[in-house]
Amino acid sequence: MKMTIADWPVLFVSGEFSAGNNEGHRLRELLKELKKIAACTVISATSYEDALEIFTSRADIGCVVIDWDLEFEQNNEKMAPEILLAGIRTRNTKIPVILLTDHLETENLSEDVLKKINDCLWKTADTIEFISGRIANWVKSYSENVVPEFFGKLVEYSERYKYAWHTPGHLGGQGFLRAPSGVAMYKFFGENTFRSDLSISVPELGSLLDHEGAAGDAERNSARVFGADQTYYVLNGTSTVNQIIWRSQVLSGDIALVDRNCHKSLNYAMVITGATPVYMIPRRNARGIIGPVRLAEFSADSIKKRIGAHPLIEGKNEMPHIRMSALTNSTYDGVCYNTGAIIAECAGCEVIENLHFDEAWYAYAHFHPVYAGHYGMAVKECRQPVFCSQSTHKLLTAFSQASMLHIRNGLQRRIDPVLFNESYMMHGSTSPQYSMIASLDVATKMMEDNGRTILGDIIREAIQLRRKIAGLERDLRRNGDWFFGMWQPQTVKYNGNTVDFADCPTGYLEENQKPWVLSAGDKWHGFEDIEDDYVMLDPIKLTILTPGIDDDGKLLQTGGIPAAIVSNFLIKHNIVCEKTDYYSFLLLNSLGTTRAKQGSLLAALFEFKKLYDSETPLEAVFPELVNNHPERYRGETLKSHCEAMHSYLRENKIMELMHNSFEVIPVPAMLPVEAAAHVVRGNAEMVDVAELNNRTVAVMLVPYPPGIPVMMGGETMSGEAEAIAEYLLAREKFENEFPGYEGDIHGITREQRGDRIVFRTLCIRK
Ligand SMILES: Cc1ncc(COP(=O)(O)O)c(C=O)c1O
Repeated sequence: MKMTIADWPVLFVSGEFSAGNNEGHRLRELLKELKKIAACTVISATSYEDALEIFTSRADIGCVVIDWDLEFEQNNEKMAPEILLAGIRTRNTKIPVILLTDHLETENLSEDVLKKINDCLWKTADTIEFISGRIANWVKSYSENVVPEFFGKLVEYSERYKYAWHTPGHLGGQGFLRAPSGVAMYKFFGENTFRSDLSISVPELGSLLDHEGAAGDAERNSARVFGADQTYYVLNGTSTVNQIIWRSQVLSGDIALVDRNCHKSLNYAMVITGATPVYMIPRRNARGIIGPVRLAEFSADSIKKRIGAHPLIEGKNEMPHIRMSALTNSTYDGVCYNTGAIIAECAGCEVIENLHFDEAWYAYAHFHPVYAGHYGMAVKECRQPVFCSQSTHKLLTAFSQASMLHIRNGLQRRIDPVLFNESYMMHGSTSPQYSMIASLDVATKMMEDNGRTILGDIIREAIQLRRKIAGLERDLRRNGDWFFGMWQPQTVKYNGNTVDFADCPTGYLEENQKPWVLSAGDKWHGFEDIEDDYVMLDPIKLTILTPGIDDDGKLLQTGGIPAAIVSNFLIKHNIVCEKTDYYSFLLLNSLGTTRAKQGSLLAALFEFKKLYDSETPLEAVFPELVNNHPERYRGETLKSHCEAMHSYLRENKIMELMHNSFEVIPVPAMLPVEAAAHVVRGNAEMVDVAELNNRTVAVMLVPYPPGIPVMMGGETMSGEAEAIAEYLLAREKFENEFPGYEGDIHGITREQRGDRIVFRTLCIRK
């Protein structure tokens, strides 16, 4: 279906829509003409406040017509039209704004107003047809330019109704119509989806593999907008971005300095390149929240020490080159690195050849000053090249799997696009999805035109929610009651005073980075020896704390509420958390979050509190859980259930075991690539976790929470690494004790043996 100017409504602001005078009559004629003859849609607002509210909540307005005459003030109108105009312009610099006026002469309009408007029409001096035609023209020219080039070309092409004789086989959707299941799919997705699903043999849209034509132009435009020297669109997610980056630089035997808290895809990058990983261990607080690696990890001394202790690296006396160094930025919980501080630390250590920031969850940082200096492309000058991987689809707007790869050339070494493209093509399909490319093109345009406003909105909303929860917790606690908390500073320096976070103005928190920067003096984050100006907390990543751990990080004797129970409860209320740890859960305030969603969240948290405090029977809260496991849960209340799980976690020292297991890097018996080779040759077998002593695992083991590998393929379960087996067995025991609360552990298979679940994993055959 083709878009027309009717899809871009005219927002018409006037107080005279129903006036009985001549002006009112002409206004009604004008609206009629706009709708009937010019085929426009009109939204009317009768006050400047309403108009601003409408404009703020809709991005599809095609033009704003403002009646500038003074009746508003005579009606005790509070908002002056200049405020409406300024509000429109802070959100959108390109939308046509037309003043409709009667008495005002142009010279009475201030310079500021004149700079902000596009046109001025006289209500009575021009004909209705002329005014209406002129408004429609503005809508037309604006709506033609809101789409970026690649998307525009895709739309244009799909509207040409060509007879295609190439792939994809459905040919604009026609192929689906040959069978009922195909018809169902066609109807569900709609015609445009199929007509824009094109073959690579359409020359008008350029070539992604060669970065030519419209597709290449879109990538170059994204580089400009995201502040990179080169940008590549990658259509199989950041998992593949990571592999492209590594494959372009790293060869078998090269040493890589890697954050142990890295995504699986980076571990697989080590497998496919044959790299030798040397790990940096991130800090972790008492709740198990993952923090930053220490800045000193990038120093020559530290690298030398780690390499010296590595059993698989030879020639340790000379300082070998670190081909790639990778960090996750931000961490899951929103800890973002001051990338300049890292570059400065690396400057003293000449051996690091490439820096890689995995910013899968952080593609928006370039567009709001609160993140200044804390993302990869913020680095303007660096000796070595800097690579960034970003899942545009995760927290910006693109189709799933649509990601971007950004490069900042090094001062001493530039990344040659021709050489780099070999790695790009190795991982790319020769049949790219054009609508995914368009979604990256549109995400870029959205950020260029409205990024600051969009980010400002979501950061502000996140801060409002943070303040609300902090205020509720403080007030309830003062009365001896409880509520959920937020993982964030408890106090903030504001206007020379220290104020509670809940009392600090939202605008101040949005505009200033300082309140979000972690410092060693603060207790709230729970990380040891935080370096000055090294990391900040991302305001939009909301970690909500459940009761159970005191300010010193010790588990409370009673009154603990494990987060898994709360997040299961929220799921029942159609609120799905991003991640659940033992005593915290994470929510993301992203582009799709609305105030209504925040209201529902708060209502659900209060509902949980009510059911908990009133000792409601578990059957009434989680009927399915009790029906599935009556012998275990019948007779419990929500409160006793929380208490039972909390006591279990405390008595079995689960947090401590988790902590210990992540402090150890097991001794590697072989490189990840060699372990993978054993799997390919079938030289691997399943082993019970209880029998892992001295065995070398063939695959990585990644328990959620917190989602960090405790073992990599090729590492052996011996010596200190036994802490890992102990933790995994504790998880196995927990799942047997609390059926219905199975967690996610990548690399572990569950086998039912009698009435017990047994954890197993793949090991290299002896
Ligand atoms: C840090 C990190 N890197 C990379 C990825 C992979 O991203 P994608 O899902 O776009 O392949 C993820 C996914 O969760 C991630 O958390």
